[in-house]
Parts: sequence; C-alpha cells; structure tokens
Amino acid sequence: MCGIVGYIGEKKAQPILLNCLSKLEYRGYDSCGIALSASGIEVHKDIVRVKALTRALPTLDGMAGIGHTRWATHGEPSKLNAHPQCDCKGRIAVVHNGVINNFQKLRDQLTEEGHNLTSQTDTEVIPHLIEKYYNGDFEKAVGLALSDIEGSYTMIALMADEPRLIAARKDSPLIIGIGDRENYIASDVPALLDYTSRVIYLEDGDVAVVTADTVEVKQNGAGIIREEHKILWSVEDAQKGGYEHFMLKEIHEQPKVIRDTLAEYISAAEPAADLTGDDGSSMDDMLVLACGTSYHAGLIGKYIIEGLVNVPVRVELADEFNYSGHVSARNKAIVITQSGETIDALKSIRKLKEAGCQVIAITNVVGSTASRIVDRTIYTRAGPEISVAATKTFIAQLIALYWLALPYSRVDIGRLDDLVLEIRQLPVKVQQVLDNEAAIADCARQLAGFENVFFIGKGINYPVALEGALKLKEISYIHAEGYAAGELKHGPFALLGDKTPVVAVVAQDNTCEPMVTSIKEIKARKSPVLALVGEENETMEGLADSVITLPQIDPLFSPVVNSVALQLLAYYVARERGCPVDFPRNLAKSVTVE
Ligand code: M6R
Repeated sequence: MCGIVGYIGEKKAQPILLNCLSKLEYRGYDSCGIALSASGIEVHKDIVRVKALTRALPTLDGMAGIGHTRWATHGEPSKLNAHPQCDCKGRIAVVHNGVINNFQKLRDQLTEEGHNLTSQTDTEVIPHLIEKYYNGDFEKAVGLALSDIEGSYTMIALMADEPRLIAARKDSPLIIGIGDRENYIASDVPALLDYTSRVIYLEDGDVAVVTADTVEVKQNGAGIIREEHKILWSVEDAQKGGYEHFMLKEIHEQPKVIRDTLAEYISAAEPAADLTGDDGSSMDDMLVLACGTSYHAGLIGKYIIEGLVNVPVRVELADEFNYSGHVSARNKAIVITQSGETIDALKSIRKLKEAGCQVIAITNVVGSTASRIVDRTIYTRAGPEISVAATKTFIAQLIALYWLALPYSRVDIGRLDDLVLEIRQLPVKVQQVLDNEAAIADCARQLAGFENVFFIGKGINYPVALEGALKLKEISYIHAEGYAAGELKHGPFALLGDKTPVVAVVAQDNTCEPMVTSIKEIKARKSPVLALVGEENETMEGLADSVITLPQIDPLFSPVVNSVALQLLAYYVARERGCPVDFPRNLAKSVTVE
C-alpha cells in the first residue's frame, strides 16, 4: 500500500515525480503529495488524485524531490495526513510506506521534548526523529531515527541543502532506478518504465544513499553490493493503449498472457516444480496459501492437482493460516501472490519456512519479496497489472497451476495428450469469449440495477463463482456472494426473490445435472437467472432468463473461459454504474500492511 518515489538529477523533479506517482496510484489513492528541494523544502499535497494535483500546481523549482500516493492507515485521508510529512522547521520531508508500531510512544516522547506533531499519522515521527538526531550528518541522523522505529518503514527522506536522498526498505518493496547523471527511487517498477530499465532491488534492512551520480547501499552501516537488473516490461505494458480502463485492456491481453506463460513453461527443460515426495513417490499432502483472487486460483488449483495428480490439497487463506494453520516439515506448500508483496502471504511463507517446509511461490513480479524467500519461484508472465482488480494475473496463475500438475498427472496417456492439446487451445478459446463481449455487456446492463447478486458454481467452477462475486463487488459496489450451488438452499435461499438475481456457472461435466436442479429450485423462488454455458449445452433453454454462451472446452479448463466472461460482466456492470473501475474505493492493489 502507498506508493513512494524519489528523484535526484539534472532535470526538474516536479514533472518526473508526478508522472511516477501517476503510475503508482494502484497502490493507494486517498491523497498524494510531493516535496521538492530548491531554496529550502517546498511541500504540496492534497486529498486529490495525482492528475488533479498536477493540474493544480504551478511550475516549481528543484532537481531533487520525493512523492507519495497514500492508502490511509493512521489518520483519515486529509491534507494534513497526506505525505510528505515534515519536521518542525520544515527542513526535512519524509514519504513512508508501512506501519510504525511504536509510533504513539515515540510521538509522546518527541512531544515532551518540544516537537510539535500536527498530523494523526505514524509517519510524522520519522522527520521529527531525524530532526532530533541531526547534528550536521543527515545520514547518521536517519540511521538513528530508524533504529528507534519498530514496525515497517520503507521510506525516503529529503533534507534542505542536502544533495542526496536517503531511502530505507523494511517490509515493503523499494527499488532504485539507475539513470545517466540522475537516479530514481520507487515502490515498484511501473513508476520507472518511462525513464530507465536498470534497477536495483533493495533488501529488507537496506539503507541507500542516492545522489545524482551515485547509489551507495548499506546494511547495518556497512557498504553492500546489490546487483543491477534489467527490467523486461515495456513502457506500453503500463499504458492503457487506447482502452478506457486498464482493467479492460488487461482482460483483453489474456490470450497473449496465456501464450507467453505457456511458452515459457513449455520451453523449460524441467517441470515447473517437483510434486513428488522426498522419496520420489507421490506427495502426501500439499498446502496452498493465498489471499483474495489468488486464493480463488488456489481453490481451483486444488481441483486441478487432486484431479490430475491424486494428492490431497489443503487450501487456506494466508492470514487465517498465520493464526491457526497446522504445518509440518512433511508438507510441501505453494504460496500464490501476484504482487509477491502481500504481507499476509509473506508471513505465511515465513511460518512455512520456520516449520521446515519446502515452499514454491507463484508470482508475477520478478525480484518480489516472495520470490526471494521461497525455495522455488514459478513466474507468471502477465506483465504489469495496473487495475486494482486482478484479471490477467489470475488467469496466468491458473495456467501455472495446470502446468505444475500436468507433468505429474496420473491420467492415461491418451487423456494427457488431449489435455496438452486443449491447454494450447486456450488463447483461441479466450479470444472467442472476448469476441462475445457485446453480448456479455448486454447481460451486464440487465444486472446493473440490482443491489444483491449471488454467483453459484459446482466442483471446479465453485471457486469461479467466488471469484465472479469478488470481481463484481469490488468494482461495482454491488453486494455479491459466491456460493457452492448445493449450499444455497442451506440458508441463502431466504434471500431469493425477483430482486436477487443469480449468476450460475454451468459446466459440461457431472456437475451439470445437479446445477440444473439447483437452478430450477432458484427459479421457483423467482430469482432471475443468468447462466454461463458451453455452446453445446442446451440445458438452460427455457430455464435461465439469460445466457452467456461460451466456447466448448474440456471441463478441467472451463474455469479459464468462465472467469474471463465473469471479468467482462463485472467490468460492464461497474461501467454502467459509473464506478471508477481501475481504482475502487478503499482498496489498493498491493496489500503490504496487516
Ligand atoms: O498480490 P496478491 O495476489 O497477493 O494479492 C492478493 C489480493 O489482495 C488480491 O488478489 C485482491 O483480492 C485483488 N485485487 C482482487 O481483484
């Protein structure tokens, strides 16, 4: 959560910082601000989006500066609580991403010592601590300030008359972008794509002293070399490319994402990961942990792995697992996190590692924290996903799970050949769903006037219903719940009626018949039904009120086409309701605080 940037070099910092911030808004967008060092420190911030701040600001001087886009933790979104936060004299400015656990104690101490802290933020203690310790040495003062802080404190500090920025990473990502006589600091790669493809990923505990010409990284005061990496994402990857919203662009990229992800796995010399037990036999038990949409991918993964490999799979929400989940060294675990930075997922990886488990991460971000603390990483090749609602990264996670399981499949060779042929057909099938966009948009218009919607599915499409409901609620603000079709009659039936539509995901397998029964029961309670069915499935004729017809596909892969259709459905409902599709209220893409 929260995006932070820094620039120091030969150019005017203002337009660079604002442009970088506009690429980081998916991390939080309650308020934003910048601080520039010219003759003293000048701070501009407000409870507006970056575009509005950019329009409102005059041209400012300064070739060094920092910026922030906020997802509020301590203190409501307000001008006072927006970052940068400053010291008493306004000579030190700080942007911060994280939560300072002992901030109240520090704040009380600083207040007793005569500091005047005016915001409700935890961040404000940082510039005041730097001010307290400053004795002519900026770097030393930052080091002393950080040693007082407990919690997570990825931050950048700027001080008047100091030709350097000081950045520190603790518990959330920070990268340095290397330029020619200029350097950049940012929370994430998309911020830097317009300027450089050369980056250094900081590690936890790193402090970086950055000037226009140098980057010096230290751990516990001692210099350390951090390798430079080349970013493979392009500038276009992080632009809307003519689409009205990033979400729509990202939905449309999915055939390519599947192709790219598959191409990488197919060309690899060995299977993506080892799904055998320590003695080479099949594994005893597999644990899959994730949050949100990635959790839904994990639930689908259970059906894929149990169906193909025949090993039991336990899927848990990462945060719940952190507080109660049982684990032993005999478990193998997969943690799914597109960002690789979700705090709950990272905590679960640490718990698994402490128990002696082998952990595989499925992530979309090269160099992410998750990728650095697990035994093995399977990358999805979705490119940067900017819209807060996960779409293409979810589909890429499913591809990774299919590919993980296929080499260990216990099905007969004929069936395996068919599955491999079918998975290669997925880009074409997904394109067919996208070509049917207008019909899905029509269905969305019918749904947009309701305030409560159920999504139902069965078997491997039950988690698809969960994901369809999550997508709809997060971007359209309609209350939506995903249910296993058979569960609906155990309580939620009380809510059915003509004001509560049901979206039914109907697959062409042994779940089809009981789904038809469920839909008949729902229709008897007068709920309008929108059904998703394969083109050869005639069971919904005369039963469902409306139908989205999807390309025929092996049921194992039906979650892919069904999910893409539900993404489009949610998108067009949100658009119809005039919602800010890419930046839904109260959310942020990368949840780096508990
Ligand atoms: O980066 P992660 O995959 O760990 O993120 C987990 C969730 O926060 C995320 O999937 C969230 O539910 C989506 N933005 C929903 O669209």
